[in-house]
Amino acid sequence: MNLLNAHRQAMKFLQSALLWVPCCAALAQPLPLDVLHWWTSSSEQLAVDQLKAHLLFNGMRWKDAAIPGGGGMAAVKVLKSRVLLGDPPDVAQLIGTTLTDWNDMGLVMPLNNVANRQRWSQTLFPTVMKLVTYKGVVIAAPLGIHRINTLIYNRHVFAKLGLIPPANWEEFELVAQKLSAQGVKPLAWSDEAWQIATVFESLLLGEVGPAQYRDLIVKRKSPAWLEPGIEKALTRLRWLRNLSGDTPRERAWTDATRDILDESAAMVIMGDWAKGELMAWGASPEKDFGCAAMPGTHKMHLYSVDTLAMLWNSHKRTSAQEKLAELVVASPTQLAYNRVKGSVPVRTDVDAANLDSCARDSWTTFATPGNVLAPSLAHRMAADEATKDAVAQILWRFAISPTMTTKEAQRRLALAVRTP
Ligand code: BGC
Repeated sequence: MNLLNAHRQAMKFLQSALLWVPCCAALAQPLPLDVLHWWTSSSEQLAVDQLKAHLLFNGMRWKDAAIPGGGGMAAVKVLKSRVLLGDPPDVAQLIGTTLTDWNDMGLVMPLNNVANRQRWSQTLFPTVMKLVTYKGVVIAAPLGIHRINTLIYNRHVFAKLGLIPPANWEEFELVAQKLSAQGVKPLAWSDEAWQIATVFESLLLGEVGPAQYRDLIVKRKSPAWLEPGIEKALTRLRWLRNLSGDTPRERAWTDATRDILDESAAMVIMGDWAKGELMAWGASPEKDFGCAAMPGTHKMHLYSVDTLAMLWNSHKRTSAQEKLAELVVASPTQLAYNRVKGSVPVRTDVDAANLDSCARDSWTTFATPGNVLAPSLAHRMAADEATKDAVAQILWRFAISPTMTTKEAQRRLALAVRTP
């Protein structure tokens, strides 16, 4: 699928759409809000453009402090150094535990007034509301919900070989065999630690089920990491990694995603920001690629919620910061932003029929009572930055070095998750 032209056209359309934002708000030249984030890929930039356009429409401007690096590894460090230098941005993409950590240091502005005015507790998913509320205070504006346990496959390759998306690991193995037999690489892969951790937590959830996932990831019960289910998940991780050959390759997540576009691989396991990226390149979730739940995780939603926190600093922009928080949660912004970002709205009052097939499945799975909602460790929903990094490093070492046994990896993981 050569989609370069479609991509160019999509970009042109978006650029012209942005030009249609009313002139007069822009003429007022308000001081921009300085926003630190890590959205730098094609789809991420398009999503930010949507936010900028909605802000501008309301007489506000957004200045990018964008730090490249998938999963926000670099952005989190830059934020730390800016705070130490006494120059925090007005707004930062702080998610999960980084949010509560910075809040504990007195850096985050409460948003209770906005949340009350906009009735967030009635309009947002309870899980999202809980995530942005800390010690009774609302501390961030939620943007979108990403589904981590997403398996994206190339529809053309699957159709050509008569394959259907695998629902369990037996089916996955068969599909992988058939693809390999036809000379198609079954799975796009990157050896970056955060991407390995992203794959691992999805397969862990499917392997051990939600109750044990909770013990391992949320309650961080150290002995639970020594159980046989973890050994199985680790063995599966190494098997998946080895489907791509021996040489370790730390590639940006966009490169792994591109393998699906140009058919150099048939599937990728990634959060659904990869869907947004494929769409930004002109591919369609209905025609060119599809999303399935990771094998064994049907009716489960392993989530990561993107949030923006308003930070205290010397600029004294409180009312603009509150306005931004209000705008990003409003329905029109939610729909426009999430449509390109790959995530789904944080609101319950959405008509799922208007979402693309991947988003519809994600949003409905999240919204349906009784389904499993599990927080992502790799994306900071469950543990502090240091624990997350330690776990990701062990998984990375295990995945790329054949000499580390599963038992040794389990022992190290059990130590790493121990709460201090
Ligand atoms: C963020 C996404 C982002 C992805 C890749 C995740 O942690 O939640 O918004 O697109 O990283 O950088």
